[in-house]
Amino acid sequence: MDKEVVNIVDRRTGAAYDLPFFKGAVRAMDLRQIKTGPEDFGVMTYDPAFLNTASCQSAITFIDGDKGILRYRGYPVEQLAENCTFLEVAYLLLNGELPSALELKQWVEAITTHTMLHETTKKFLEGFRHNAHPMGMFISTVAALSTVYPESRHVLDPEIRRLQIRRLIGKVPTIAAYTYRHSLGFPYVYPDNDLSYAANFMNMLWKMVEPKYQANPVLARALDILFILHADHEQNCSTNVMRAVGSSQADPFLATAAAAAALSGPLHGGANEEVLRMLDEIGTKDRVHAYVDSVKAGKGKLMGFGHRVYKNYDPRARIIKWAAGKVFEVTGGNPKLEIALELERIALEDEYFIKRKLYPNVDFYSGIMYQAMGFRPEMFTVLFAIPRTVGWLAQWQEMIEDPEQKIARPRQIYTGYEARNVVPMEKRAAAAVTA
Ligand code: SDX
Repeated sequence: MDKEVVNIVDRRTGAAYDLPFFKGAVRAMDLRQIKTGPEDFGVMTYDPAFLNTASCQSAITFIDGDKGILRYRGYPVEQLAENCTFLEVAYLLLNGELPSALELKQWVEAITTHTMLHETTKKFLEGFRHNAHPMGMFISTVAALSTVYPESRHVLDPEIRRLQIRRLIGKVPTIAAYTYRHSLGFPYVYPDNDLSYAANFMNMLWKMVEPKYQANPVLARALDILFILHADHEQNCSTNVMRAVGSSQADPFLATAAAAAALSGPLHGGANEEVLRMLDEIGTKDRVHAYVDSVKAGKGKLMGFGHRVYKNYDPRARIIKWAAGKVFEVTGGNPKLEIALELERIALEDEYFIKRKLYPNVDFYSGIMYQAMGFRPEMFTVLFAIPRTVGWLAQWQEMIEDPEQKIARPRQIYTGYEARNVVPMEKRAAAAVTA
């Protein structure tokens, strides 16, 4: 008897079904044969928030949540952070292999020649109030690029896809920096193509009147490592959005803007900004215990803790904690670090968090480091969106090239009224119904 099947008996009919395993899963469509009669639609799965549903096959990123493992195209993220640059890792995520020296040189040149924005783009940004949140400006401006490159809608053309991918990777740091400069009322700084990806980003953020910006190499490397760690994370919320929006063949600028919108939520990429607010609210190390008790009493969450997949220490958090130490050696530290360390110490010993397997995630230490580097909390999620644009594009490209994929359109379990007839206004109950 074939062991690679799961046998299901429908006790409504007594019928038995052998459902073949597919790479350890069961195809949901195989359940549709389970019917009570020819009129029956068949059995669906019900899985709100997709807790146990694979929406695709992907070869890009592997996570083992129990063991705290994260690999991009098979390479442990720890090794990539130690040995590679962000653009090298971007090449790996998009092409499946690490580049040779010549391939990397050509790749860097290709991205570098796309760092400029059309001058009209700056007019989009001018329309925002000075206190507009940078994520709102970032998302809107990325979407607006769809109007600058209308040919990008031809998503089935590999060459057109390739060009838009390079444009987006090259331009997102420029857009991010321009949102920052706009919020300060400073003039925009044009890209300096002599600089690395991270150093040029710092140039566009912080260059003032000096003839040429000199990036601190320790800070530039720390930013590059943070970009590597944030580049992809398999089917997270924002990547799911990228795939769903891309599945309707919307152009990659609009899909990336939609993904960034999902990332902005406080439960997702917006958590790094919320961590800083939480540390500010705690205020001092001796108030950490009281705050933890309030979380355990159900008053809010410990921001930067917990994860849908990791039920162990997020491997990225460990590296970020190390990188933050390197940054503090240059910047002189961040007083919030001792509060964060005390929060981590207490949470890792407390049964409430241990039982729920809540460990620090990627967002817990990144904000403290960014703040020490001079970024304001409102910029933190934009700093997440820049590198994650590469992951979104790699996943989007894989989806477009996947023959199994089609427009994403989930089913539902209907719980509303059965058919009923409209009652004329004069016969409707006078009871006021609040909308
Ligand atoms: C990112 O998916 C990804 O890969 C995302 C990401 C990426 O790289 O793309 O890794 C980036 O988004 C990291 C997560 C950043 N978010 C935060 O730090 C916000 C705080 N964390 C939580 O909101 C939460 O942990 C989530 C959203 C991250 C995960 O939520 P789940 O998987 O839906 O888990 P859950 O809400 O069902 O929690 C299970 C239990 C619940 O308690 P009980 O109802 O069982 O009593 O754990 C509790 C939750 O209340 N819980 C927390 C908690 N997170 C979960 N309690 C206190 N503090 C928390 N942070």
